[in-house]
Amino acid sequence: MKDSFQREIHALRISVTDRCNMRCRYCVSGDLLKLKPQDELLSLDEIEAVIRAALVLDFDAFRFTGGEPLVREGLLDFLLRVSRLDGVRKLSLSTNGSMLERSLDQLAAARVQSLNISLDTLRPARYEQITRGGELGPVLGGIDAAANDGRFKIKLNAVLMNGFNDDELAELAALTISRPINLRFIEYMPFGSWQRVENENAKGLSVGEALARLKQVFEMDDNVRGPGGDGPATYAQIRGAKGFVGFISPVHSPFCERCNRLRLTADGQLKGCLLADERFQLRNWMRSASYNAEELIARIAMAVMAKPEKHEYARNFDMSTVGG
Ligand code: 5AD
Repeated sequence: MKDSFQREIHALRISVTDRCNMRCRYCVSGDLLKLKPQDELLSLDEIEAVIRAALVLDFDAFRFTGGEPLVREGLLDFLLRVSRLDGVRKLSLSTNGSMLERSLDQLAAARVQSLNISLDTLRPARYEQITRGGELGPVLGGIDAAANDGRFKIKLNAVLMNGFNDDELAELAALTISRPINLRFIEYMPFGSWQRVENENAKGLSVGEALARLKQVFEMDDNVRGPGGDGPATYAQIRGAKGFVGFISPVHSPFCERCNRLRLTADGQLKGCLLADERFQLRNWMRSASYNAEELIARIAMAVMAKPEKHEYARNFDMSTVGG
């Protein structure tokens, strides 16, 4: 459906859990994830009800995120169920990749076409540092297995962090050369308290600057069509490479006018904008006697109409509370 700025909103990004086996510093500002009690998270049946209502409003693309979506019990069977609903055009998953390898067959069975995997560094010690204890090996194994499998479109996400991984841009981009893997650089968004407290320097690198640096190393074709998809990335390609290098610029050149999405948090709130404070709480109402499926459609439409024209920063919540 169209929002009040004539944007076609047709993608729903669903956080299926706030649980995660990593604690990435740009996503979680404290050492501990402040986890919601299980009964405050939507059940998979409740999520399905939201998807069915969104389908009535012509939503057709559904991305599952977390926390780490693959830690949610029953997710893979659930995805198969969702894939059979009328009107579902595209299912995708955003994951840290650590549990990916064992899930590939079920993901393919559920027609999950697109996998976004977080990969900010290729150095094990740095990986451990940015994820607060995560292990790089299984993630690279998962990426390898998914790429060799051939049934998925693979996008790796690297958050640009000055002083952390800005010396690895070429190595990361080189992952696109020999296989059809896409690597997207994302400008670091100042969330929560990490930037202010922990790493004042790890900000500010723009995708424009990243592209300029890559051009010093590789022959790159600019503004190519890329692998397509519903997201906000623009693409370039290392000449002769099989995959693309993407750039997502939420900070230096926001793409709000092309925004096509709505978000559902794990605890059942609809958000029109990642960076807005406004949330529509569905959960309590969905569990009350006044719930009905017709009104759920109306409430989703209301959240679409309330989408702001542009995003603003300086929000004091963590990415992990909304879903990456
Ligand atoms: N800035 C930019 N991207 C972020 N992500 C999470 N937190 C941030 C942030 N503060 C992105 C990561 C991850 C995806 C799920 O969300 O790229 O891969």
